Amino acid sequence: MASRGQVIFWSIISTIIILAGATALIGFGISGRHSITVTTLTSAGNTGEDGILSCTFEPNIKLSDIVIQWLKEGVMGLAHEFKEGKDDLSDQHEMFRGRTAVFADQVIVGNDSLRLKNVQLTDAGTYKCYIITSKGKGNANLEYKTGAFSIPEVNVDCNATSESLRCEAPRWFPQPTVVWAFQVDQGANFSEVSDTSFELNSKNVTMKVVSVLYSVTINNTYSCMIENNIAKATGDIKVTDSEIKRQSHLQLLNSKASLCVSSVAITWVLLPLCPYLMLK
Ligand SMILES: *[C@@H]1O[C@H](CO)[C@@H](O)[C@H](O)[C@H]1NC(C)=O
Ligand SMILES: *[C@@H]1O[C@H](CO)[C@@H](O)[C@H](O)[C@H]1NC(C)=O
Ligand SMILES: *[C@@H]1O[C@H](CO)[C@@H](O)[C@H](O)[C@H]1NC(C)=O
Ligand SMILES: *[C@@H]1O[C@H](CO)[C@@H](O)[C@H](O)[C@H]1NC(C)=O
Ligand SMILES: *[C@@H]1O[C@H](CO)[C@@H](O)[C@H](O)[C@H]1NC(C)=O
Repeated sequence: MASRGQVIFWSIISTIIILAGATALIGFGISGRHSITVTTLTSAGNTGEDGILSCTFEPNIKLSDIVIQWLKEGVMGLAHEFKEGKDDLSDQHEMFRGRTAVFADQVIVGNDSLRLKNVQLTDAGTYKCYIITSKGKGNANLEYKTGAFSIPEVNVDCNATSESLRCEAPRWFPQPTVVWAFQVDQGANFSEVSDTSFELNSKNVTMKVVSVLYSVTINNTYSCMIENNIAKATGDIKVTDSEIKRQSHLQLLNSKASLCVSSVAITWVLLPLCPYLMLK
C-alpha cells in the first residue's frame, strides 16, 4: 500500500513531467520556423483563357500571419505576393501586371492557388509557391505548361459526295496528332481513309484542326481523337437511320503519366439527320 507521502511525491513528479512536456511543446512552437506542407498540382494553361496554378498549404488561423509568394524561375521579382490579408504587388514583375490574383477568401483554409488571366505561351515554366505562416514556412514547385486545346465537334459532312464525317476543333497548339477510331474494331487503322489539315488562326499561333473520315457505315460509333503533350480530346459520333448522336470529352494530361486532372464531358446529344444524304 502506498503511503500518503508516496502519493504526494508521485503526484508532484507527474506534474513536473507534464509541465516539462508542455513547456517543451510550447518552446518548440515558438522557436519554430518549421517547415509546413505545401502541395502543388500541375495543370496546363489554355492560351487566351484564364488559368489556375494550384497550390495548398496547412491552414493557419490568422490571415494576417500568412505570407504567400508566387515566383517564376528566370523572372526577377514576384509573380504575386499576398500578405497581411491583402495583395502586395510592389515587387511584381511587369509580365504579370494586372493578370494575377489569389482567391482571398480561400487563403484562410489553405488554398493559395494563383489565378492567371489571359494565359500566354510565355507563361510556361517552373513556378514556386512559397508560404510563411506562424507555424513555419514551406514551398513547392509547379511545372506550368501552356498551349491551346479545344473540344472537337464531329458532324456528318452533308456536302461531301460520299458518306463522310468531319471533325473540327477551333484551337490547338502545339500541333496535335489526330486519329480516328472505331468502336467495333479498336485496332482499325483509318489513316488511309482520312485527311487531316491544320489551319493557322489569325494570331499565327493556334491552329484549327479539321479531319475528314471517308467511307463510314451506319450504326457504328466513330471517334476522332486529338492529342498533344498537354491535352487529349475525343469527339464521338453515331449515325443510325433515324438519328445522329454525338458526345465529346477533353482531358488535360499531367506531366507525370497520363493522369487526368481535369475533364469536360458532354453527354450524347441528338441531332437531325442530313437532309440530302443518307448513310448506307
Ligand atoms: C481554390 O479555390 C478556387 C476558387 O474557389 C478553386 O477553384 C480551386 O479549386 C481551389 N483549389 C483547391 C486546391 O482547393
Ligand atoms: C456545306 O455547304 C454549305 C452551303 O454551300 C456551306 O455553308 C457549309 O459551310 C458547307 N459545310 C462544310 C462542312 O463544308
Ligand atoms: C496506320 O497505317 C499507316 C500506313 O498505312 C501507318 O503509317 C500507321 O503507323 C498506322 N497506324 C497505326 C496506329 O497502326
Ligand atoms: C505567321 O506564319 C507565317 C507562315 O508560317 C510566317 O511566315 C510569318 O512570319 C508568321 N507571322 C508571325 C507574326 O509570326
Ligand atoms: C441499324 O440499327 C437499327 C436499330 O438497331 C436497325 O433497325 C437497322 O436495320 C440497322 N441498319 C443497318 C444498315 O444495319
